Amino acid sequence: MKCKVCREPAAIEIRRHHAVFCKDHFFEHMSRQVERTIHDFTMLEPGEKILLGVSGGKDSLALWDLLTDLGYEVDGVYIELGIGGEEGYSSGSLQLAEQYAKNRDLNLQVVDLATDYGYTIPEAAAETRRVACSVCGLSKRYVLNRVAHDGGYDVLVMGHNLDDEAAVLMGNTLNWNLEYIGRQRPVLPATKEGLVRKVKPLLRIAERETAAYCVLKGIDYEVDECPLVGGNTGIRMKEWLNVIESERPGTKQRFLFGFLDRVSDQFASAHQEEVELNECSNCGQPTTNELCSFCLLQGRMADRG
Ligand code: FES
Ligand code: ZN
Ligand code: ZN
Repeated sequence: MKCKVCREPAAIEIRRHHAVFCKDHFFEHMSRQVERTIHDFTMLEPGEKILLGVSGGKDSLALWDLLTDLGYEVDGVYIELGIGGEEGYSSGSLQLAEQYAKNRDLNLQVVDLATDYGYTIPEAAAETRRVACSVCGLSKRYVLNRVAHDGGYDVLVMGHNLDDEAAVLMGNTLNWNLEYIGRQRPVLPATKEGLVRKVKPLLRIAERETAAYCVLKGIDYEVDECPLVGGNTGIRMKEWLNVIESERPGTKQRFLFGFLDRVSDQFASAHQEEVELNECSNCGQPTTNELCSFCLLQGRMADRG
């Protein structure tokens, strides 16, 4: 196979775009896709202070690389979740994130859940008897927003890719979970004091493309799945979507962008009317209750015997 731009030997085929690229034209394609997403959804404005949630995985490191090459100045924040013990998953991911930041001379802040908030994800999952991904998602959302807000950042950038977003949409649609569907936006505006705007510039990029990007660019990333994903329906949803995608390339993109371009506004406006937020009496972050769910969790972890 030959690159469709320069006819040199191909490095990757992207079936949904009917395209084959050599290494350099693949990098160019990735960069253009990200730029287009940022532009189409007005994600980033010149001069804004930008923070990226970095996990050490392929998506966040590829995104950091792409944004930096596009000329954005982006700081990173890594949350140490305490998964897998001293030489396990979390510490390995942290090393890879730190290594990347050092190589490119970028700023990475590290928040340690155990030191800063008094618990790890495995401990919280055991104590609450919830699946790890649920307490993990709650903790990450809270801490990322908090760090962005307290650090004076205008925008928090997330590495969610096409596969992630299509899987979430599929899961919520199969259950007609209207409230969650209404919240699935490429840009989540800062609707209340204490919240920072969140954006997802990798929406047009599939998982295998961020992996290929990192490999071809020589970026070392955490290849292992989180060992706690058992019970995570998002992963199953991705597998099912992959079956459809292999028969009908482009299905995921049509599903997600059909939703974003044609109906998401209606879901979002219906959702906004329903929710009234007030301040958490402990931390001041917006919540629908007296205490936000993060402070409830943290309180419960502090009280354990
Ligand atoms: Fe959050 Fe695995 S990374 S539970
Ligand atoms: Zn080429
Ligand atoms: Zn709170």
